[in-house]
Amino acid sequence: MPRKLAAGNWKMNGLRASLSELETLAARHSDASVDILICPPATLIGACQNTLFDVGGQDCHTAESGAHTGDISAQMLADAGATYVITGHSERRADHGETDEIVAAKSDAAYKAGLIAVICVGETLDEREAGTTLDIIDGQLAGSIPEGATADNTVIAYEPVWAIGTGKVPTLEQIAEVHAHIRAKLQARFSDGADMRILYGGSVKGSNAADIFGVPHVDGALVGGASLKADDFSPIISALEAS
Ligand code: PGA
Repeated sequence: MPRKLAAGNWKMNGLRASLSELETLAARHSDASVDILICPPATLIGACQNTLFDVGGQDCHTAESGAHTGDISAQMLADAGATYVITGHSERRADHGETDEIVAAKSDAAYKAGLIAVICVGETLDEREAGTTLDIIDGQLAGSIPEGATADNTVIAYEPVWAIGTGKVPTLEQIAEVHAHIRAKLQARFSDGADMRILYGGSVKGSNAADIFGVPHVDGALVGGASLKADDFSPIISALEAS
């Protein structure tokens, strides 16, 4: 059984002063029985090195290097100390027009640099209301996960777009349906698909974490807002440890 994963996505938040939150977190969870990942802004990756948690980027370019002003390659993230990178977050898909094809190329670049890709999928509210959630997820899984994916180099994050940063959370039945569906798809395509970790993301908080972690095939969480403060992230880590 792969270790469960509590991942924090700081998005475009965090200055050097924020690193004290990680010191608090490290002091509280020094003997954590789950993997803990922090994805700070790229400016803080170098300063984030800590023996307790892994550090990840929030995005990478498809190329190793070149004339791409402002972009960061997977190799650079690895060089700065990252071991993971998020690819295909819905904010990147929406704000930067990232297609499944681009997400797959970024995930492939992550593998080449020795990083674990946290590949994000999820439906919009319109898609859920139209009853097309599972079709959308199928298309994203098929298009965004490269052939070389394994349980060691890939984590899938199911993040309903309408649940991100909104305080709205799907019902446990809705989460269960999508996670079981993703598991079946991963097992059908990859020989070790049973061991690929599937995270839930979207308005995870200390108050709902235990219920969400009780859902079958939920192997952890990708947490945005509640990962910024140790007081908010710590109960989520504890809930995952207890699950
Ligand atoms: P949230 O974000 O926890 O603030 O909803 C989750 C994410 O976007 O990864």
